[in-house]
Amino acid sequence: MPSVLITGATSGFGRAAAQRFAKAGWSLILTGRRQERLDALEKELSQQVNVLTLPLDVRDSDAVTTAISGLPEAFLPLTCLINNAGLALAPEPAQKVALEDWHTMIDTNITGLVNVTHAALPLLLKNSEGASILNLGSVAGQWPYPGGHVYGASKAFVQQFSYNLRCDLLGTGVRVTDLAPGMAETEFTLVRTKGDQAASDALYKSTTPLQAEDIAEQLYYLATLPPHININRLEIMPVRQAWSAFAVDRDPA
Ligand SMILES: NC(=O)c1ccc[n+]([C@@H]2O[C@H](COP(=O)([O-])OP(=O)(O)OC[C@H]3O[C@@H](n4cnc5c(N)ncnc54)[C@H](OP(=O)(O)O)[C@@H]3O)[C@@H](O)[C@H]2O)c1
Repeated sequence: MPSVLITGATSGFGRAAAQRFAKAGWSLILTGRRQERLDALEKELSQQVNVLTLPLDVRDSDAVTTAISGLPEAFLPLTCLINNAGLALAPEPAQKVALEDWHTMIDTNITGLVNVTHAALPLLLKNSEGASILNLGSVAGQWPYPGGHVYGASKAFVQQFSYNLRCDLLGTGVRVTDLAPGMAETEFTLVRTKGDQAASDALYKSTTPLQAEDIAEQLYYLATLPPHININRLEIMPVRQAWSAFAVDRDPA
């Protein structure tokens, strides 16, 4: 059976992806920091497929290396890595943000993603034909917006790192994709606002955002494309979201 390693499987896209790949019979290696959520997911999905849960903070490079290099044979070779763990913090303007929030985004979205990729690469290369690395970027990595500051910059890193990985992996058969969603309803905004449920509800109210299952379906599609196809970047928005006009600072009338 093919196997997939999903970071951030305790919520949102990661949890929906675990459920989608389980439906297709894939073996699952699921990570996240919240043990009780990993336990619940293991209980739910281990009736269908092989499940290994690894409580892990992606920022801890030693823990990541130890956990991934010690994966049991039953889950190898690795067919797909989904680098999904990530977060945005501090929706306010850059000049009002605590430095710690910037560091947390860089440590998670950039350092965490490279920690996991570095540890998983040897396992993907063991049977590389048709293997994939699917990195969760964002429309914020391409399109600037107020309050995007380090979050958008971290997702621009994800895009360029994905492209550069492709160059180095040419000839190995391992595919790399930057999957860049727009507005999607998960716990993302709850995390960004540090627990403000009303702000999260307001963002998704009276429109039709993407759902976690929509992204999970795209992840499964990317992982199961014929092995000669690589989608470099896949940007997805809800139909009810688009870009906006340039902002201009004007003198008072
Ligand atoms: N929702 C959107 O609108 C949207 C749009 C574009 C891109 N994205 C990207 O999609 C990815 C998933 O977001 P989501 O919307 O599904 O958000 P979510 O519901 O908040 O899920 C985020 C996941 O990341 C994990 N995570 C966060 N920090 C971690 C750390 N230090 N170590 C390990 N795991 C960590 C969380 O698990 P634990 O807390 O249990 O560790 C959780 O499972 C993120 O990279 C996000 O930037 C989201």
